[in-house]
Amino acid sequence: MEEEVCVSYTILYFVMIRMSNISQLILGETGCVSYIIHCNEKREIAIVDSFEEFEEDILEEIKRLGYPSVKYVLDTHTHADRRSASSYFVNEFGVDGIVKSEMTKYKGSKVKTKDGDVLKIGNLELKVMYTPGHTYDHNCYLLGDNLLSGDCLFIGDVGRIDLGGDPREKTELLYNSLRRLEQLPPNTKIYPNHVGAAHAIDSEDTFSTISNEMKTNTAFQIKNIQEFYTYMTEGWPPKPDNWEKIIEDNLNG
Ligand SMILES: [Fe+2]
Repeated sequence: MEEEVCVSYTILYFVMIRMSNISQLILGETGCVSYIIHCNEKREIAIVDSFEEFEEDILEEIKRLGYPSVKYVLDTHTHADRRSASSYFVNEFGVDGIVKSEMTKYKGSKVKTKDGDVLKIGNLELKVMYTPGHTYDHNCYLLGDNLLSGDCLFIGDVGRIDLGGDPREKTELLYNSLRRLEQLPPNTKIYPNHVGAAHAIDSEDTFSTISNEMKTNTAFQIKNIQEFYTYMTEGWPPKPDNWEKIIEDNLNG
């Protein structure tokens, strides 16, 4: 796949990595990642996991793509570490609402999804995989052999389960979601919502594959639920500042 890398050193620097149908926007030192999925033939796009303070960077990429039509604005889940800019883009481009899991408690305009739904973006088909665990409302989005894995599966780790809800229940949900992801073809590329591992492992990579994670990702390798519960509840870094307030703000839109 052709890849082009562009680094911007403005105050909030970001890194843009462009594949044929996916632009990956890495938000400076935050490690958060937004994506734009684009069908170049039909000139339609979807914006996935956009964040406040980086709206201009998304708009700049839309300009570079020649102002295609924005078909969808999606979130993988309710974020606890940054405020979503999805409602801004919904208003800016007049789409029906934020595409989210039907399990979301978001109070604003939304387009609810369930597992197996397919979203058409021009000629592209984006398949919804409901993958709860990190949050109860978590979706991954599969585009061919590319998985936008949100905070379900990272490079070298998985998303924490201790930001609200019941840890044991969420651990089981995440465990089962990971079992589904390991059924994907081994060469499926993983594009997470954060780069830079959250638990213990450091990686400078910006994507991975299912097979690579099966070989190297400790959390992904654990096949015993009690052992996984121990992993998910011990040794995690401090919770993000103001995480409860950020969740509340993101649910209010
Ligand atoms: Fe998250």
